[in-house]
Amino acid sequence: MKIQRIYSVYWSATGNSRKVARTVSDTMGECLGCPVKEFDFTLPQARETIMEFSSEDLAVVVLPTYAGKLPNKILSFVQTGIVGNGTPAIPLVTFGNRSFDNSLAELVDSLQSNHFSPIAAGAVVCRHAFTDLLATGRPTEQDLEVLKQFARKAAEKILVSSSLPAPVAVPGDSAAPYYIPKGLDGQPANFLKARPKTNLDHCIRCGACARLCPMGAISSEDYSQVPGTCIKCQRCVRSCPQKAKHFDDPAFLSHLAMLEANFQDSKESSFYL
Ligand SMILES: Cc1cc2nc3c(=O)[nH]c(=O)nc-3n(C[C@H](O)[C@H](O)[C@H](O)COP(=O)(O)O)c2cc1C
Repeated sequence: MKIQRIYSVYWSATGNSRKVARTVSDTMGECLGCPVKEFDFTLPQARETIMEFSSEDLAVVVLPTYAGKLPNKILSFVQTGIVGNGTPAIPLVTFGNRSFDNSLAELVDSLQSNHFSPIAAGAVVCRHAFTDLLATGRPTEQDLEVLKQFARKAAEKILVSSSLPAPVAVPGDSAAPYYIPKGLDGQPANFLKARPKTNLDHCIRCGACARLCPMGAISSEDYSQVPGTCIKCQRCVRSCPQKAKHFDDPAFLSHLAMLEANFQDSKESSFYL
């Protein structure tokens, strides 16, 4: 089958899913000899329009795992805003060395319901957005090489097929509930209401946090106020040039400590072709 364009389609609060999307799209673009376009729907404005694809496009769609599934406030856009027309797709999720649980199954199901045909898929270990101490430095150069090998195999699958390859099977159950975060004491850690705090001595009022928040949750009049819905994605923390943002919610910190204590052993990425 002939592909005319590759779309790198991603939601990426702290940059891992973007890196994975670009690596796979660029490698497939080289193999298939076609241009790569980008559709970054991380910011709310980008989710105001529907993105529609044809049967001559290939969509590489990448999101992070949040609580074992796709980020729930972004799911409705994935379900309604990314529309295929018999379009081959490469669904990928990133995860921070705990588990991707059911996020890949959820992404594959959503794309299939939206008239995409997922022909190859994967779950890629990346640094945990909450801490640099889990999956530190990942994806490493070696991880990216493995990702490129996967992309070459996925391209080969397209090159040798005269029609759409059969949909790929992935593990997990898209109807399963979210993972319940635990604290250090093993009990559920509820930090739904946690908000980033701002160190006003360090804040230079550059406004990056408010501009970059994927939920548009931070006040643009007073950057220390979060009147909207915070999804704990850590984008404000990681993009603040002054390191003026942090979370001090005890339940959040207890979950973080639990993750750091129990999920140090390096996980492998998984690929399905
Ligand atoms: C709110 C939240 C929940 C997360 N839940 C999980 C999880 O259930 N399992 C896991 O292994 N990693 C989890 N992570 C880590 C992210 O999946 C991982 O860091 C991902 O690569 C971030 O993608 P991004 O850089 O594109 O935003 C979570 C991160 C956040 C911010």
